[in-house]
Amino acid sequence: MNAPTKTDMIAEGKAKLIYNTTDPDCVIFYFKDDATAFNAQKKGTIESKGILNNKISALFFKELKERGVENHFIEQLSEREMLVRKLEIIPVETVTRNIVAGSLQKRTGKPEGFELPNAIVEYYYKDDGLGDPMINDEHILTFGWAKREELDVIHERALQVNEFLKAYMGERGILLVDFKLEFGRTKTGEVLLGDEICPDTCRFWDAKTRKKLDKDRFRQDLGDVEAAYQEIASRVGA
Ligand code: TMP
Ligand code: ASP
Repeated sequence: MNAPTKTDMIAEGKAKLIYNTTDPDCVIFYFKDDATAFNAQKKGTIESKGILNNKISALFFKELKERGVENHFIEQLSEREMLVRKLEIIPVETVTRNIVAGSLQKRTGKPEGFELPNAIVEYYYKDDGLGDPMINDEHILTFGWAKREELDVIHERALQVNEFLKAYMGERGILLVDFKLEFGRTKTGEVLLGDEICPDTCRFWDAKTRKKLDKDRFRQDLGDVEAAYQEIASRVGA
């Protein structure tokens, strides 16, 4: 069967364009090279980022599916395009952390690199206008952003992705510091993992040198940004 084709653009995110397709249950992601940080206060482009993030995300989603972690991925269509199930996005992002960095470092005063005794799952309210504030499960239930059963699925999936990704990257000499996930509902109400999983949305450090191989190179002006994304793509074999 032929893959559905692009029709109208329905959304432009910071890193992707999203198109409706000839199949009402599917959308196409187009991965851009645009990069933003600090709620879009810092803007730039990372050469070939869209190509690398598309193939890295496709590989992770495929591997996750094979291990029973259901997600929206259907197939990679081209260098920059991915066909996925259409989801009604749940406005709750998870960040799962194994090692202290970024906002957790700021919030706790613990040094960057401090290894957590267990993984932590945090929730953030997906709202650019508010700067994606951190929230807890009581906010999520009270404001009706997700139901208890949905949140249980989200939490479990976040930990499953962590177990997979930590081991998969570990075997390739990379530490998984933390990562962000997004989820949505299919039209029958099933909660599915969506969005992307790539060096924009994860922190990856070289296990030996602790060199940052992710978007922190852009956020912190560390240089060699594209090379870091390339390094991740080649280590995972994407
Ligand atoms: P944080 O330490 O700044 O809270 O980021 C945690 C993780 O989430 C890190 O891997 C980067 C990712 N992230 C996003 O994907 N999008 C965002 O807007 C932010 C702030 C973080
Ligand atoms: N993507 C986010 C933004 O611009 C922030 C980040 O990844 O650091 O706002």
